[in-house]
Amino acid sequence: MTAVGIRGASLTQGRADFPTGFVWGAATASYQIEGAVKEDGRRPSIWDTFSGTPGKVAGGDTGDVACEHYFHYADDVRLMSDLGLAAYRFSVAWPRVQPDGTGRINPRGLDFYSRLVDRLLEAGITPYATLYHWDLPQTLEDAGGWPARDTAHRFADYARAVHERLGDRVQHWTTLNEPWVSAFLGYGNGVHAPGRQDPAAALRAAHHLLLGHGLATQALRAGGAEEITLVLNLAPVITPAQVRDPAAEPSAADAEAVNRIDTLLVRQFLDPALRGEYPADLLTIVERNGGLAHIHDGDLGTVHQPIEMIGINYYNPCVVESGPGEAADAAWPGSEDVRFCTADAPVTAMGWPIVPNGLSRLLLRLADDYPEVGLIVTENGAAFDDVVEDGRVHDTGRTGYLDGHLRAVHAAIAEGADVRGYLVWSLLDNFEWAEGYRRRFGIVHVDFATQRRLLKDSALWYSEVIKRNGLRG
Ligand code: NOJ
Repeated sequence: MTAVGIRGASLTQGRADFPTGFVWGAATASYQIEGAVKEDGRRPSIWDTFSGTPGKVAGGDTGDVACEHYFHYADDVRLMSDLGLAAYRFSVAWPRVQPDGTGRINPRGLDFYSRLVDRLLEAGITPYATLYHWDLPQTLEDAGGWPARDTAHRFADYARAVHERLGDRVQHWTTLNEPWVSAFLGYGNGVHAPGRQDPAAALRAAHHLLLGHGLATQALRAGGAEEITLVLNLAPVITPAQVRDPAAEPSAADAEAVNRIDTLLVRQFLDPALRGEYPADLLTIVERNGGLAHIHDGDLGTVHQPIEMIGINYYNPCVVESGPGEAADAAWPGSEDVRFCTADAPVTAMGWPIVPNGLSRLLLRLADDYPEVGLIVTENGAAFDDVVEDGRVHDTGRTGYLDGHLRAVHAAIAEGADVRGYLVWSLLDNFEWAEGYRRRFGIVHVDFATQRRLLKDSALWYSEVIKRNGLRG
């Protein structure tokens, strides 16, 4: 691994102008906002099954209703337009488009996204479509899910069908959102759907997700897609001392812990997708956890397709040191000698440390190590315990978080990183997976009892940022 330098460690407080054409937007995902789970022929996804299983999601919450965006999408596009968003990143629900995950395409499911895209374009908002944001059709899980190779081929068929319908109007495509999470929380520690706990299955899932990315990219490209992105949950992996002092030198043992987690989180995905190879230390972990038989000759060539962009979902750094710790957590196979640490920093309502310069470190590291692709921040944002007071939400914590992280993006651009845009997570308060509705990430407040939307102060602030293409001093 290239050593992470200390470039981008200090962030400015003054005025920060962004490059002309910098893309400002917001992001959501189908299962988190749409509701309408039985509408127009949609069938269950693994998240319907998982959230319907007692004990899996906080409060017993499900995506059955969510923000009812399926019904209110036109009003939601109007909100985006009021805010001045240039781009909107949404995901397409596979179980709407292909309810059984294979075979029959459901035109009524595609109709919804077609209407949404038309509305966006009428409003002058560029659609960024993500094909897979975790809602695998349940029938495919029953047939083996991502640990089974066939799912990668089914994904490519589905991608082709979506592109055939929307490709005349959508230029920006993302294959997968956060395959690390799908594989290691879904099949490793089981905190996410489908809730399996099997590290070997998680490693197989990761490979098949990558294979699915490569096959879907081929299908999109054959259909004429202009821009293809792989979105990853990325973080700088650092020691506790480096949270306070980015220049702190780790001990040899800590450096090894850092490397291991960087291999699993970052290089496991970027090296095959952008270089056509797995890191050697990753292959050792795979060999010891179920073996390498699922990695077929030629797979890495399929995974390694030219793509234009890496999408970065950044929330916080990953802080580790050497020491016995995570043996019980099957999300990190081969890392029994790594301890995950709390960072000495303020935290959001998720308990996630707020370390904005982690984003500049990450962007500059990606620019150094993978100069062949453009970068876009596809998610960044924070959950806070918002309260509505006299019709306002004074979410200063969120505004501060966004301001700090935008300064981090600005610093990285100033030091040479090719960052083309920033999409805040999220447009709306929504179903936060295993945390249910108790964690609010939106810049727009949603009253889930009435479906009323209310712009938080952070949304008004963000709208100003977009207008001036930068931050005030
Ligand atoms: C990343 C995921 O893509 C998104 O679905 C989730 O809500 C946010 N992180 C916050 O946890």
